[in-house]
Amino acid sequence: AIERTLSIIKPDAVGKNVIGEIYSRFEKAGLRVVAAKMLQLTDESAGGFYAEHKERGFFKDLIAFMTSGPVMVQVLEGEGAVALNRELMGATNPADAAPGTIRADFANSIDANAVHGSDSAQSAAREIAYFFKDEEICPRA
Ligand code: CMP
Repeated sequence: AIERTLSIIKPDAVGKNVIGEIYSRFEKAGLRVVAAKMLQLTDESAGGFYAEHKERGFFKDLIAFMTSGPVMVQVLEGEGAVALNRELMGATNPADAAPGTIRADFANSIDANAVHGSDSAQSAAREIAYFFKDEEICPRA
């Protein structure tokens, strides 16, 4: 089925100037960018986005990293978009990410891991609504 997923290009990858290279991977795999914005996250906006991780030991470092510079946030649309985007990203820890995945090629560590992608259709719905109003999304499928 045609799905949508929320993708974030994190401050490390924005800093490396590889937004376009990462967009190319989405496009070559058949995903379409249907909404996008560049944002400087705050402790409040990053903390709300990652609320499910609030009790984890890495939460403080995660918020410090995600607010360390601008992020590029986009909605990707396509057949099986949630799982397809996760395949393109590779494992959360770049040390475990398969060759040719975004994290294998652009990420440095489990914290600075280049990209975020929704882990389920349910997370995708919440995460998309967190950053975008309905009228900011332009269906292209
Ligand atoms: P992301 O998919 O954005 O979701 C939460 C982020 O926390 C994750 O990617 C990692 O960058 C970061 N993180 C740091 N340590 C861990 C860990 N031990 N397990 C999962 N995520 C972690």
